[in-house]
Amino acid sequence: MAEPHPIDLTGRAAVVTGGAQGIGRAVADSFAAAGAGVVLVDVDEARVTAAAEEMVRAGHTAVAVAADVGDEAAVERAAEAATGDLGELAVWVNNAGVTRPAMLHKMTADDFDLVMRVHARGTFLGLRAAARRMREAGTRGSIINVTSSAGLNGTIGQINYAAAKGAIIAMTKSGARELGRYGIRVNAVSPAAATEMTETIRSDERFAQQYLERIPLGRWAEADEVANAFLFLAGSSSDYVTGQVLCIDGGSYMAS
Ligand SMILES: NC(=O)c1ccc[n+]([C@@H]2O[C@H](COP(=O)([O-])OP(=O)(O)OC[C@H]3O[C@@H](n4cnc5c(N)ncnc54)[C@H](O)[C@@H]3O)[C@@H](O)[C@H]2O)c1
Repeated sequence: MAEPHPIDLTGRAAVVTGGAQGIGRAVADSFAAAGAGVVLVDVDEARVTAAAEEMVRAGHTAVAVAADVGDEAAVERAAEAATGDLGELAVWVNNAGVTRPAMLHKMTADDFDLVMRVHARGTFLGLRAAARRMREAGTRGSIINVTSSAGLNGTIGQINYAAAKGAIIAMTKSGARELGRYGIRVNAVSPAAATEMTETIRSDERFAQQYLERIPLGRWAEADEVANAFLFLAGSSSDYVTGQVLCIDGGSYMAS
């Protein structure tokens, strides 16, 4: 007989934005393996459709929604896809992300606005869509945002991204304070993983070495390893955890 999964999301629907690839895809897979019905939301329609189809072929319950997380109506559409047959909307992960790196003196206001739109506005819209529905349904849900060491510590050449990820930490803490009374938890993960987003750094000899020296564990994580933290925050093992930033980054960031 199969061992029961230590974290059980059976009967629960989970929305994962940026679910077509990378960390989002790994998170979607881990939730589905724990029994959740998953809604993959991504701006890349072809990839998100293929990802959901692959999950269904693997025996999981998954649907794809092609949507830009900065678009209010599109996020509401994604939330509606998570009602009904998929289960009780109990988990929402605001993970979609982009980068537009440039040194401050060269960064355009458009690059600032775009990164803020996807990360900060996108997280706000997702957080609100999830909170409204969980609150109305009386669901003791878990909302998981995705931040970065850039938001915790600052960074060079990505002031837009650091600002957006800092805003996400503030929204995580405020969301946790505001929604705790309904039993809704809001946490954030600060990851470091080998994905398309980090490909440029990892494939540049000089940068790659510099980055590795900053990681005490001396290697990048696979997206699956990071997904374990999301699973913990999604399930009942973390019922008393809210307002936290969980760093799954090989020890790169250590709070003083
Ligand atoms: N990989 C890392 O080391 C690392 C480190 C810190 C933070 N993060 C954060 O983790 C999250 C996932 O990153 P990843 O490494 O998997 O990146 P990735 O580039 O592999 O995946 C990001 C996904 O988000 C989607 N996306 C982009 N803009 C969108 C939009 N407007 N609406 C909907 N979907 C959109 C992309 O199409 C893609 O599928 C991001 O928020 C990123 O900032 C990653």
